[in-house]
Amino acid sequence: MTRASESGTPIEPVYGPEALKDWDPRERLGQPGEYPYTRGVYASMYTGRPWTMRQYAGFGTAAESNARYKELIAHGTMGLSVAFDLPTQMGHDSDAPIAHGEVGKVGVAIDSIDDMRVLFDGIPLDRVSTSMTINAPAALLLLLYQLVAEEQGVDASKLTGTIQNDVLKEYIARGTYIFPPGPSLRLVADIFRYCRAEIPRWNTISISGYHMAEAGATPAQEIAFTLADGIEYVRTAVAAGMDVDDFAPRLSFFFVARTTILEEVAKFRAARRIWARVMREEFGAKNPKSLMLRFHTQTAGVQLTAQQPEVNLVRVAVQALGAVLGGTQSLHTNAYDEAIALPTDKSARLALRTQQVLAYETDVTATVDPFAGSYVVEAMTDDLETAILGLMRQIEDRGGAVAAIEQGFQKAEIERSAYRVARETDAGERVVVGVNRFALDEEEPYEPLRVDPAIEERQARRLARLRAERDGDAVAAALAALAAAARSDADNVLYPMREALRARATLGEVCNTLRDVWGAYEPSETF
Ligand code: 3HC
Repeated sequence: MTRASESGTPIEPVYGPEALKDWDPRERLGQPGEYPYTRGVYASMYTGRPWTMRQYAGFGTAAESNARYKELIAHGTMGLSVAFDLPTQMGHDSDAPIAHGEVGKVGVAIDSIDDMRVLFDGIPLDRVSTSMTINAPAALLLLLYQLVAEEQGVDASKLTGTIQNDVLKEYIARGTYIFPPGPSLRLVADIFRYCRAEIPRWNTISISGYHMAEAGATPAQEIAFTLADGIEYVRTAVAAGMDVDDFAPRLSFFFVARTTILEEVAKFRAARRIWARVMREEFGAKNPKSLMLRFHTQTAGVQLTAQQPEVNLVRVAVQALGAVLGGTQSLHTNAYDEAIALPTDKSARLALRTQQVLAYETDVTATVDPFAGSYVVEAMTDDLETAILGLMRQIEDRGGAVAAIEQGFQKAEIERSAYRVARETDAGERVVVGVNRFALDEEEPYEPLRVDPAIEERQARRLARLRAERDGDAVAAALAALAAAARSDADNVLYPMREALRARATLGEVCNTLRDVWGAYEPSETF
């Protein structure tokens, strides 16, 4: 009986030589570290050093998150990954009425340079790479990071890390957008140009499929919609007058790793090959680094269960193995209790240990792209490539990613896939161990980590003190300069933005200044 893959293509019970008939490995695969990068972006991949173990973390105040980062570094994490709370992600100060109840909840509350200084206190920014999951206000958090590094005596040219800065996927899934697509894309192009001039080793964007996958996108939809967003960003920067090789080497991506490990490995391999071809053939990129799809992976949060949470340790291990066999550059493994609450210190450590077992106890780092030549994985890679290209063509036919978003295309496709999965799960056709099969009559007790509700009050007091101490006239003048730059098409808004933040303007004040000029996005009824 032939089973369908998550993307809907058939998985044959047995694969043999006929699956790869007239299949030329030289054309389809190439060598690791060479075009079209099917086998991986680096020639040596993990044989020299493992992927970056980069655990997403952040909650409560900057001081609490700073303590967690120091713990993760002590446990062996190789890169930081900052989670911000919703008010920060939406460009509101912690004492804004709209922020009530959300301060410090799903991530750390950052209102100003004062908080950013505390967040990285005692962490040498010239020796760590930091990812920041921030989209609409990404420019502000990048500039605050640069300003804090400057105070540490670290030159911006030494800084390495990533801002997610992918607002297009926020219109499709997740929803932390602020401005309409036009000004949002202008801001992305300003960030590309600013980083090329000021922070050249910084990855300017993490074009994400993860959140669309978590919303229900199949592997083919995840890759197709993400690459289509990537094409939109490249077109925007080229239209703004940048040469593709001036910014493309610093584009990066972010995908999910599901438990369906064979299809996930094929998914990553197909994605690299498609992106390399798009960058060479559509954009004429010459620099090999412009053709490499470098990506971060997070194991699938939506596949974690609240029931029998320890079973999630097994799911995360399998998902992480798929990401590694698929050639990820950076990896976050979810904690087993994340379907219930924020990770405890112990569950966060176990999540990191899962990566360390894969990297240091198995042999998956001994050789590059171990599935190369596998009948099933090469056949699945080809099948997925065909499915992904078909979806990308449907987006092109609608006028590109932004036009398709405004027509609600991607969102509708994802909702259809999510509904199918929910129906199959409810019918028991899709097994979820511990939930619709092998369930317990009585769940065992579990004590979640709790965020101190007094954090909101403490942040409000910090903001009141900041506003009382700073030079209000300097802040007002800096915000007026920012507004003037936002009104002109010629200026790069990051320069006046940096000076406003240096003068201790708050995140909410900067974002409100831009809201006043650009307006706030209201989704059309087709969403
Ligand atoms: N051969 C040669 N060079 C190698 C190599 C090899 N085998 N392995 C690594 N290197 C080099 C690289 O070239 C790089 O050098 P460079 O900086 O000069 O280019 C350096 O070593 C670091 O390697 P990578 O760049 O591959 O690894 P990083 O970890 O530094 O970067 C990334 C990985 C994907 C490019 C980057 O964008 C990144 O770290 N992304 C992380 C994104 C992230 O953490 N997102 C979290 C999202 S959580 C979220 O969205 C919310 C929640 O709801 C899910």
